[in-house]
Order: sequence, then structure tokens, then C-alpha cells
Amino acid sequence: MPLPSLSSFFLGFVAGCLTIILLLAIAAVSLTRSGDIYGLGHWKLNIRTPFPSMWMNLGFWTRDDGTAIQHFDEAARNMLRQLLQAAGLLSNSSSSSSSSSSSSSSSSVAVLDVGFGCGDQTVALAELINASTRPQFRYVGLTLNATQLQEAQQRLDAALSHSTQDPSSSSSSSTTTTTTTTSLNLPKASSFQLYQADAAQPTSWPPTVLSSVTSLADASFSERWLMGLDCLYHFSPSRKPILTLAARTLHANVMAFDLILSDSASFWQTLAVRILGFVLLCPWRTFLTEREYREQLVECGYDREQIEIRDVSDHVFGGLAGHLRKQDAVLRPYGISLTAYALVGRVYEWFDRTRVLKGVVVIGRVKRKSQ
Ligand SMILES: *[C@@H]1O[C@H](CO)[C@@H](O)[C@H](O)[C@H]1NC(C)=O
Ligand SMILES: *[C@@H]1O[C@H](CO)[C@@H](O)[C@H](O)[C@H]1NC(C)=O
Ligand SMILES: *[C@@H]1O[C@H](CO)[C@@H](O)[C@H](O)[C@H]1NC(C)=O
Repeated sequence: MPLPSLSSFFLGFVAGCLTIILLLAIAAVSLTRSGDIYGLGHWKLNIRTPFPSMWMNLGFWTRDDGTAIQHFDEAARNMLRQLLQAAGLLSNSSSSSSSSSSSSSSSSVAVLDVGFGCGDQTVALAELINASTRPQFRYVGLTLNATQLQEAQQRLDAALSHSTQDPSSSSSSSTTTTTTTTSLNLPKASSFQLYQADAAQPTSWPPTVLSSVTSLADASFSERWLMGLDCLYHFSPSRKPILTLAARTLHANVMAFDLILSDSASFWQTLAVRILGFVLLCPWRTFLTEREYREQLVECGYDREQIEIRDVSDHVFGGLAGHLRKQDAVLRPYGISLTAYALVGRVYEWFDRTRVLKGVVVIGRVKRKSQ
């Protein structure tokens, strides 16, 4: 009787061994085939997550001193800085705060950020406008994508946990062991609220999102802003619902980086741009000329006299196209292909040459109620 069970055990053992050998063989073949084992494929084992940054916008590739920026994260952050500077929100903007009545760094700020990305923008905004030292700061961010929301929340939480919120607790003693090279100074966690919602369609918002957004209308925020950084052209059916809500319900100004159609674009160029937008899931008529763009802002409730549209194409398209080309070449030896981005890069080269579309920084202001 014991013999059969022993032999079946033995058979099972052999089968198990064979399975393992087979799996190892498959792994070895796939590793050698892909060149992973004696090549560069082990880069995958060397990357640390989370990634240092997950920025995504076209970038502003020129520094204030006129030098060219080489890295994507720096360019993307610089784009945010350009918007905040145009809005007069930078605590320390050395520029001519011409039109803005020098909105001092001591005013309370509320921001509705539509399409906030993966968290870098949220953290950088709070840093750049010196949010922690303002009397009040509130930030509500909306994204379409649940994965982005999760990533952004993690990134924000990590930044908040590194932040030196209470200056008294970390008494800046002489020997501050610089564990975190970037000693962030962020406002408290409850100042930030991130949601998954379609910012283009306020009527679709659940009550929690709606009440959070409308809380930004509080008059104690002397600076109220809608921010659309490189995303408004995706808004479907159009930019109007969110702009109207911002202007009429929140009495908020708008700062945006957006793309507008050249006045001199030919019929065929315009058609090409519209088809391109369509492929990128934008509404068919999303690209407006500057005149149309201004009219839309006025229609939504912005003051015609206080609209600023600055063409920054020189600092955007060429820099990005160059970066995509470079990144493709640098990553190729590792077997990382940027195929889709490289194609997009060609499109930006075309924009750069023809200026069919212009990259613009837009500031719109609501008429001040006499207070
Ligand atoms: C932030 O605000 C504080 C207090 O007003 C000030 O001391 C500091 O220089 C500001 N930082 C920047 C970068 O403007
Ligand atoms: C910027 O802030 C620094 C200190 O934070 C100050 O010394 C400098 O004068 C400020 N520059 C401008 C243009 O406000
Ligand atoms: C959100 O992003 C993830 C990761 O890129 C993607 O797999 C998913 O399809 C996206 N979801 C929506 C609703 O776009």
C-alpha cells in the first residue's frame, strides 16, 4: 500500500522540478532574446519609485535670465511660474507688476485648479505663492482620471509630511541636518482638496465637489483664481461652462496657458489643426482665434478691459520638440521607445515653424465690485 503513494509523490516531485526548470528556461530565453541580461535591460531594477516628479505640460523652456532650460520638470514648473507671475501672485516677482495692483503676498488666495495632473503642480503652486504665510489659502483641484487623483494625493501627502509646517517645532537651530534638501514650507493639509470630476461639466459634479468649489467664493479670499494650465482646449463641450462658473459664481479671475489659432492660418492649416484636435479628443471648434477667445471670456463674465493674452510660443514649442527628440535618442539604447511622443514632437515642430497655433498665457479678470 505505501508504494503507490510514494511513487505518486515522486512523480509529483519530478513534475514540479520540470515545471520550475521550464519556467526558468522561458525566463532565460526571454531575457537573452530581449537583450536584457547582457545589455541595459536591468535599468528597470534600478529605478526608484515614486518618481521624483510627474509633471505634464508643454513647458516654458526659457529661464528669466534668457538661458535655455534642458529638463522637462524644470520647464513644466517654469510654465506654472509664468502663469502665477502674470497673475501677480508670486511673492517675489521682480517683474513689473504693471496692471495688477501689486496684489501683495499677504492677501488670502483661493485657487480652483482644473486638470491638476499628478500633484507636482499642486505642491509647486503652494510653494511659489508662499501659501503657508498667507492669512488664508484654499486649493481645490479637479481631474478626470482616478489614477491621477491617487498619484497626486500620494505626492501631496508626501510633500506635506516633509513640510516644516510649524516653525516653532523645528526651531531652526544652527545645525539643521539637511535631511530633506528641499525644506518645503506648505500650508496645512486641509487647505488642499483634490477630486475626480469633469471640470468641463459643472452640472455633472456631485454635491461634495460642488460645495467645495463654491466655498472658494468666500469673500475673505481677496484673490480668487481659476487656473487652467495647458488643458482648457480639451474641455468638452467647451470652455464656457467652467469660465462662466468661475466668473459669475466664484467671482474669480482666470489664469491659463492655452492654444489659440493664428489669424493668418489658411483654410487647410485650420482644417489640419481641427483634425489634430479631434484625434486628441478635443471638441471640433476648440481652437479659437484671439478675437474669438476674448469674446468668449467677455461672454462668460470677464472684463473686456482687463484681458491679457501673451504669445509665448517662442518659449514653448521649439523647446519641447527639441526635448522630445533628445529624450528619444537618449532612451533608445535602453529599449525605451517614445514613439507616440516623438510623433507629437513633429507636430510641435510644425507649430513652431508655422505658428498655426500659438501658445499663450491668458489672464482674465472680473470687474471689481466696489467694496
Ligand atoms: C515668504 O513669506 C515670508 C514671510 O512673509 C518671507 O519671509 C519669505 O521671504 C517669502 N518667501 C518668498 C520666496 O517670497
Ligand atoms: C525677494 O525676496 C528677498 C527675500 O526673500 C528680498 O531680499 C528681495 O529684495 C526680494 N526681491 C524683490 C524684487 O522683491
Ligand atoms: C486613467 O489613467 C490610467 C493610467 O494612465 C489609464 O489606464 C486609465 O484608462 C485612465 N482612466 C480614464 C478614465 O481616463
